[in-house]
Amino acid sequence: MVTGGAGFIGSNFIYHVLKNRNDINICNLDKLTYAGNLENLSGIEGQYPGRYHFVKGDIADESFVHTLFETEQFDEVVHFAAESHVDRSIHSATPFIMANVLGTQILLDASRKFAIKKYLQVSTDEVYGSLGETGYFTEETPLQPNSPYSASKTAADLLVRAAFHTHHMPVLTTRCSNNYGPFQFPEKLIPLIISNALADKALPVYGDGMNIRDWLHVTDHCEAILTVLEKGKFGEVYNIGGNNEWANINIVKKILEILGKPESLIRFVKDRPGHDQRYAIDALKMKNELGWEPSYTFEKGITETVEWYIGHKDWWERIKSGAYTDYYKNQYEKN
Ligand code: NAD
Ligand code: DAU
Repeated sequence: MVTGGAGFIGSNFIYHVLKNRNDINICNLDKLTYAGNLENLSGIEGQYPGRYHFVKGDIADESFVHTLFETEQFDEVVHFAAESHVDRSIHSATPFIMANVLGTQILLDASRKFAIKKYLQVSTDEVYGSLGETGYFTEETPLQPNSPYSASKTAADLLVRAAFHTHHMPVLTTRCSNNYGPFQFPEKLIPLIISNALADKALPVYGDGMNIRDWLHVTDHCEAILTVLEKGKFGEVYNIGGNNEWANINIVKKILEILGKPESLIRFVKDRPGHDQRYAIDALKMKNELGWEPSYTFEKGITETVEWYIGHKDWWERIKSGAYTDYYKNQYEKN
């Protein structure tokens, strides 16, 4: 079972697995929140007959989840479903607690009751907090989350850790840096900048634009998760990163350069409260123990991604014209 498979990384993961592993069939459980979009998976049942099906439901609904596990008899669970946007968690934290914390515990309980053989928690580098100018997050870095989003993801990680120590559950945890690529919801930096620039709209950059993120193509993240699922050691945490640090303003300028759009579209806006300064992952454990390394160069990945958004204007225009618009006004038009 994949949870959150109608979102950005989950939908990419489902394609990646069905394409690369003939012996795996997938049930996708997703609540279809504002971020869940079945258009990401349109035609997949026909492309992979008998190997994929979708179930709409909430991971925080205990009786529903237990009934589903009983009916479907899953072997393995890969848990992506989450409220994932930091800015939304600053406006309202409760949905993050319900989905990310309660939802994770309910999945762990069902996985234990129905003797799931492997449970993989898709976590984030944000659980480590923020770095200064030097250093990297290793798997031993203390957990110091700074936003309600990252605090909820950290709580979930600790519940997974407790499930291993108390119940000896077969759990694995991955903590990845910022992803980019096809099907990313256009509230996140890269798709927001590409789609706004294509429409000649202002490009909001928080603060001075000097916050740093380590960007990884989503396909590399999917392959890393599959690697951990197949070769990882139960109870262990694996950091995943691109070794590819960029200040936000430079990412924005890079996208403008690829699109041939002017830098005059850039607007420096009010900073995100508690904005983490820098994320950078030490992914040596993935390389040395499991043999995984990123395959995309950033030049190739970002160029392909910009081209994908140019070729899928209908996809992001439908999102931007829908429920997303109200949130967008609330987030940016007050600044
Ligand atoms: P996303 O917001 O694009 O997708 C989340 C999906 O989860 C959506 O389809 C949504 O409908 C579903 N969902 C939310 N609440 C649910 C619930 N209660 N029950 C069932 N489904 C629910 O997120 P994403 O960017 O694809 O991130 C996926 C996971 O990867 C998250 O756990 C996130 O913390 C983690 N992660 C993301 C990144 C990144 O850069 N995007 C990096 C590292 C880790
Ligand atoms: O590091 C992994 C995390 O990456 C994931 O756990 C999260 O789910 C994912 O959303 C992402 O979090 P960030 O907060 O780093 O991503 P976001 O795209 O929201 O922002 C990236 C950087 O760009 C961050 O420093 C804030 C800045 N930013 C973002 C937006 C939306 C802007 O300057 N302007 C914007 O409009």
